[in-house]
Amino acid sequence: MSSYEARFKVWRGDIKGGGLKDFAVEVNDGEVVLDIIHRLQATQAPDLAVRWNCKAGKCGSCSAEINGRPRLMCMTRMSVFTREETITVTPLRAFPVVRDLVTDVGFNYAKAREVPAFVPPAELGPGEYRMRQEDVDRSQEFRKCIECFLCQDTCHVVRDHEENKPAFAGPRFLMRVAELDMHPLDAAAESGLDRKRTAQDEHGLGYCNITKCCTEVCPEGIKITDNALIPLKERAVDRKYDPLVWLGSKIRRRDRES
Ligand code: SF4
Ligand code: SF4
Ligand code: FES
Repeated sequence: MSSYEARFKVWRGDIKGGGLKDFAVEVNDGEVVLDIIHRLQATQAPDLAVRWNCKAGKCGSCSAEINGRPRLMCMTRMSVFTREETITVTPLRAFPVVRDLVTDVGFNYAKAREVPAFVPPAELGPGEYRMRQEDVDRSQEFRKCIECFLCQDTCHVVRDHEENKPAFAGPRFLMRVAELDMHPLDAAAESGLDRKRTAQDEHGLGYCNITKCCTEVCPEGIKITDNALIPLKERAVDRKYDPLVWLGSKIRRRDRES
């Protein structure tokens, strides 16, 4: 087994301010960045704050920026860097720092609460739901999400634009809207909820200009842009410009007004 000493710059501080601190830390074969951060805690910086749980890429809590790229620390092998490289670890930039590498990701939980849940079909009971396999497969891709919020962090709509946060749900939650809108058993429309309209008017779908940066950082390999956001945009536009949909909405509005 070979080991070497790697140079690290780790951001230390809190909401009032902070900066990068230099460390030299031992690295052994097969280790990931989270191992090194733990060794740093154990040997040189016992008060370093870092959030983690599973160390298996499944809990989504060890998100940070490594050399400026949003990544899971537990899934980033040290072997992807050269031994000469200085590795910089900073907290997620789009969210407020709590301390050191820990950020307050409450923005995401607030956005999650704004997406109305699946509406079960009135005529079917539990156990009576039937779906085609391709519909199951489609939503299954989105359900691999581990809520690491790397996609939320990297999206340029909010990354440097705090002012956009109230109007924009971010890729993770627009993907949730898309998943529900594609769900063949979702009865939201019957209860008067138009998910395509809310995607535009309430969750900020129009802010997304399909740069695909969210897809690039997703550790689950979910094709957020191609399979969720672009289809949702297409359906939202169809709804807006389809003359029959337009006429239907006018008639329904007139019915309500009379
Ligand atoms: S594709 Fe849309 S949601 Fe994803 S990073 Fe780009 S602008 Fe943001
Ligand atoms: S969609 Fe991917 S990047 Fe976004 S929160 Fe889920 S797992 Fe993380
Ligand atoms: S510690 Fe759970 S995803 Fe990294």
